[in-house]
Amino acid sequence: MSQLTSLIESLLELNNTEYSEAQTFIDKLIIEGKLHHSESWAAHMTPSLDPPALLGQLLSGLHNGNLLSPELYPQLVKIEKQLIDWLCPLFQHEYGHFTHGSTYANLEALWYARQHSPTDLTVVYGSQDAHYSIAKACHILGLQFKSIVTNDQGEMSIKALQQACQQHAPVAIVATAGTSSCGAIDSISSCIALAKQFSSWCHIDAAWGGALMLISKSHLLAGLKEADSVSFDPHKALGQPRPCGVLFYRQPVEPTSGIDYLMQAPKQSLLGSYGGELFLPLWFSLLLSGEKKLIQQLNHRLQQAEQFYCALKQQTDWWVLSSPAGIVCFRPPDHCDLSALIQQGIFSKTTINQQSVYRAVFASDKTEAKMLFTALEGYF
Ligand SMILES: Cc1ncc(COP(=O)(O)O)c(C=O)c1O
Repeated sequence: MSQLTSLIESLLELNNTEYSEAQTFIDKLIIEGKLHHSESWAAHMTPSLDPPALLGQLLSGLHNGNLLSPELYPQLVKIEKQLIDWLCPLFQHEYGHFTHGSTYANLEALWYARQHSPTDLTVVYGSQDAHYSIAKACHILGLQFKSIVTNDQGEMSIKALQQACQQHAPVAIVATAGTSSCGAIDSISSCIALAKQFSSWCHIDAAWGGALMLISKSHLLAGLKEADSVSFDPHKALGQPRPCGVLFYRQPVEPTSGIDYLMQAPKQSLLGSYGGELFLPLWFSLLLSGEKKLIQQLNHRLQQAEQFYCALKQQTDWWVLSSPAGIVCFRPPDHCDLSALIQQGIFSKTTINQQSVYRAVFASDKTEAKMLFTALEGYF
């Protein structure tokens, strides 16, 4: 803490009085943020940060370069390229760029879909559990989002999707790889096959579940290679600070950086000003923690999710649903009110097929199945 104090003092050129005035707020914020480092944090997709990523975040603030003028920042350009060159093969796509998160990536992907459509079709299909950013993107783009029912695992019903496509051909089909509520993975290959049949775009929202592409579970996203676009958020599943999202695609779009934006506006990309804040944290994670450690942390999180699921299954007769993407949902008997645990950031509440359930998200490598289970023991 004292090192942090002197760093803040020197960075901001504060004198002692000024610093102590700010200190109360700084301390309160630090305590609040410690929630994500707790062993019983499983409320949301906010991870505890990989420490080297913080260095990248700090440096991006000090650097503050804008890649709309890439000629001024050759180091930043080089690092951005290195990361995209690392990520693209993992996601089996030729092209990609960083985004401010998947809300923006989903909007951009559907924008491309609309531009590439040879017809004036307007319908977009996605699961009823698709992230709200999909329906919002459709609204912005003047498209019509139609939700498709899910099965009891939270996956989009392919039969219902097929029937819907036959009634109204879509401009795009969106498959979710790791739904926000329960981590369900829609059948990507079926969605791609249907999109091909109806000559429409196929976008995969892999904001959360995309991390499986880094480990031996990539087969769960089989077919991803053939998707027209894929969104992924290292700021959810790879211990990175926001904003850090990536959009992958198969056909090149005009780059945002590399053209003189004052002479020729970058029209084909949603990105405006951006710099190292989107990727320097990830670069420092790779440089100082290394890919191997990121993978270990990811595997650890998934093991903890599995352990929590098995413990609940064995020791209770509650309804429990697990997903390979590291989210466990459960429903205790009606008289159990877990509001106190929600307030502590241990669990959150969601709905699956109109049923209210509790949810544990294994986003942080600090989260321990044992601690979550202990928190629930009083309710058995
Ligand atoms: C599946 C899915 N897609 C998209 C998003 C939106 O991502 P962001 O918050 O980075 O904009 C989320 C956020 O939780 C998500 O879970």
